[in-house]
Amino acid sequence: MPARTPHVVSRRQFLQAGSAAAAAIAVPSLRAAQARFNSAAGKLRTAHVGVGGMGGADLKSISTHASVEVAALCDVDADRLEAALKLHPGAQTFRDYREMIAALGDKVDAVVVSTPDHTHAPAAHAAMQAGKPVYCQKPLTHEVFEARTLRELAEKKGLVTQMGIQVHSSAIYRRAVQMIQAGVIGPVSEVHAWSNKNWGYDGEAFTKTEAPPKSLEWNLWLGTAADRPFSPGVYHPGQWRKLVDFGTGTLGDMGVHIFDTPYAALELTFPKWAKTTCRTPTAIGHPEKNIVEYEFPQTKYTAESLKWKWYDGALTPTTAAELQLPASAGVPGDFKLPGQGSLFVGAEGVMLLPHVAEPTLFPEKKFADYKRPDVEAGNHYHEFVDACLGKAKTSASFAYAGPLTEALLLGVVANRFPDTKLEWDAAALKVTNVAEANKLLRSEYRKF
Ligand SMILES: NC(=O)c1ccc[n+]([C@@H]2O[C@H](COP(=O)([O-])OP(=O)(O)OC[C@H]3O[C@@H](n4cnc5c(N)ncnc54)[C@H](O)[C@@H]3O)[C@@H](O)[C@H]2O)c1
Repeated sequence: MPARTPHVVSRRQFLQAGSAAAAAIAVPSLRAAQARFNSAAGKLRTAHVGVGGMGGADLKSISTHASVEVAALCDVDADRLEAALKLHPGAQTFRDYREMIAALGDKVDAVVVSTPDHTHAPAAHAAMQAGKPVYCQKPLTHEVFEARTLRELAEKKGLVTQMGIQVHSSAIYRRAVQMIQAGVIGPVSEVHAWSNKNWGYDGEAFTKTEAPPKSLEWNLWLGTAADRPFSPGVYHPGQWRKLVDFGTGTLGDMGVHIFDTPYAALELTFPKWAKTTCRTPTAIGHPEKNIVEYEFPQTKYTAESLKWKWYDGALTPTTAAELQLPASAGVPGDFKLPGQGSLFVGAEGVMLLPHVAEPTLFPEKKFADYKRPDVEAGNHYHEFVDACLGKAKTSASFAYAGPLTEALLLGVVANRFPDTKLEWDAAALKVTNVAEANKLLRSEYRKF
């Protein structure tokens, strides 16, 4: 499989790749957009890019909002498109999101992007260039540069945005944020986060190729990624997440959910550095087992600095002893950890937050009488719709999701330089000590 050529891409190329057609559409002001919603009997007309897999779940959840009218469906796989059309027979259908955005213009009010990771930024960028609010699946983007660009574009255009981390709005995660911010365990000095899933691939390049299934527009599926022949069971559906050209490995896939609560609770910004322990890079798949360490600058909820350690695949800890916590943490060494979760080490205690289950506080005796705050669950999808209608604010807008994704993706880049601390200058969007790493922050977009 050819590697996606690392290359510095200009902002102009970014625009051309994703939104040549959309750029021609007049961009409505936010006020004009609001007026349009009102005139359409309060309905928000949505267009969905990627309607199989998680896209199907997104479509279902967004369309349960009473004010949503599903106006358009787009998928590169005709079978998946047909299944979605059965549920929303009034919607227009498309195979190419660029054509959809250009054709619909003012007949659509918001766009939902649920494609594989490498297409998030090109599709979201095209929609936002056309003035559309965007709900985009996680992680926000495939590349660090794209995360920065989407955040800046959303801000510039004043668009409503939301990243698809629906557990962010669960009562459990909201409660965990409140507990940390209320100081229940004091200033936090360490976070450990892990997932025993394996969305990596340590094998050889794929040699078995065949014609893509008749239902699949392979060129459109590849989108901006480098051209290559179709291989069965390797890319579509779902398997792409293991591969460096399309997905972000376990760190990007599950890490974005599991990093979210500590990141939000501690109000973290950009890491100072990231360093990984994993096998030698292959430029084909993400590592199947991986440890990534970060340091973040102090915030009002942390100690002087915040050390963060991520573990995945076979390197995932199973007992507390493997985390090498300080004795004062009060967590018994044989305490069995959940398969996925995070653990906060504070000056006054420890909070274990399984993914997604109620937190446990340590030492258990000390917190036996602790009364947890009552918190209501939100609906992450409806929050986006209500925000588009001017009735709410989104909690995982690109202003939040952009920096969170940049931090995660710096760890993904670090996988290509094992055992090397990548020093990060967030303002300059630059690794300061390993020039080669900067080539992986953005890639050349193929014209398709
Ligand atoms: N929030 C969550 O809990 C959650 C869960 C699973 C997946 N996801 C995210 O959802 C996204 C999709 O993941 P998945 O597992 O559903 O993948 P998938 O491969 O199973 O499905 C992707 C869908 O998008 C379509 N598609 C691919 N390229 C397209 C393009 N250029 N234009 C239009 N349609 C296109 C595919 O045909 C398919 O229907 C990923 O970003 C993933 O990280 C989020």
